[in-house]
Amino acid sequence: MSKNILEIEGISKTFLGNFKAVQNLSLKVEEGEVCGFLGPNGAGKTTTIRMILGLIKPDDGNVFIDGHSIKEDKLTALKKVGALVEGPAFYEYLSGRDNLKAFAAYSGDIPQSRIEDVLGIVGLSDRGKDKVRHYSYGMKQRLGIAQALLIQPRLLILDEPTNGLDPHGIQEIRLLIKRLSKETGVTILLSSHILAEVEQICNKVAIIDKGVLKASGDVKQLLNPEKKIYEIASNDYKKLLKDLKSLNNITILKEHDEKTGNISFHTGNWNPEDVLVELVKKGSRITLFAPKKITLEDFFFQITKEEDD
Ligand SMILES: Nc1ncnc2c1ncn2[C@@H]1O[C@H](COP(=O)(O)OP(=O)(O)OP(=O)(O)O)[C@@H](O)[C@H]1O
Ligand SMILES: [Mg+2]
Repeated sequence: MSKNILEIEGISKTFLGNFKAVQNLSLKVEEGEVCGFLGPNGAGKTTTIRMILGLIKPDDGNVFIDGHSIKEDKLTALKKVGALVEGPAFYEYLSGRDNLKAFAAYSGDIPQSRIEDVLGIVGLSDRGKDKVRHYSYGMKQRLGIAQALLIQPRLLILDEPTNGLDPHGIQEIRLLIKRLSKETGVTILLSSHILAEVEQICNKVAIIDKGVLKASGDVKQLLNPEKKIYEIASNDYKKLLKDLKSLNNITILKEHDEKTGNISFHTGNWNPEDVLVELVKKGSRITLFAPKKITLEDFFFQITKEEDD
């Protein structure tokens, strides 16, 4: 059975007297999930992550990691947590490998072979001997992930791991995270403000805005919950649109998508299969018929807009 590795229960943080950076935030992340933690700049992502890691204390609420309270039993709670928070700090004059050795020394109980393993996992085996000050930004990010992996975490927390990377670097980290999840089953909480990134990597998403959790859940479910919106296309687009409009209770949402040329519509009280049968009967030759995926970006703007209204 699935179990919650991370449980955040109503945490809040107010800075400088009355600035509410995080308000009554609750979230559960199950073992093996990759959960995107999404929100615009200043939404409260890093503040939340710092509370999870016990780096700052919540004013209210608590965090449980694998059932251990961060308030009452911080050391046990954090024992199997690896984290990369807002640009890791390294000894620039030491090599990547020696940085990991230094970190391993004060983390305790980490065999030398694990250092080579994590260098391999992040693709730095050949560059492990080079000084960190000669590393590119992307290499430093990968070394940061290697460091977080040293203790063989069950929960890996990555705060904007692709921030500041070029498209190639972003792709590398994205593939690395996917591979880690698949091969080791580690639970991952990944903060980002890049919607496409979260959509590609995560199976779950939590959206925070102005310190308040706006939505959370399964990415696919959030993005077309009832499978009521369909996309359809034909070489004779005008005939298709006319036929579709002739069906009662169908709402056309988009007559002609700018990019794909597809029509999207709400199926109303129809079974989608029956819509297809009717259109074929009317002589339309259909080239595409599929539930439409709303992008996370559409969804994100939808819920943050509601709030501004
Ligand atoms: N130590 C602090 N003292 C005062 N205000 C703070 C402190 N830390 C964060 N804040 C404020 O709390 C709010 C949330 O900041 P936070 O760093 O959590 O946002 P974020 O979602 O991580 O943003 P970004 O995407 O830019 O990293 C911001 O308005 C920030 O200025
Ligand atoms: Mg941040």
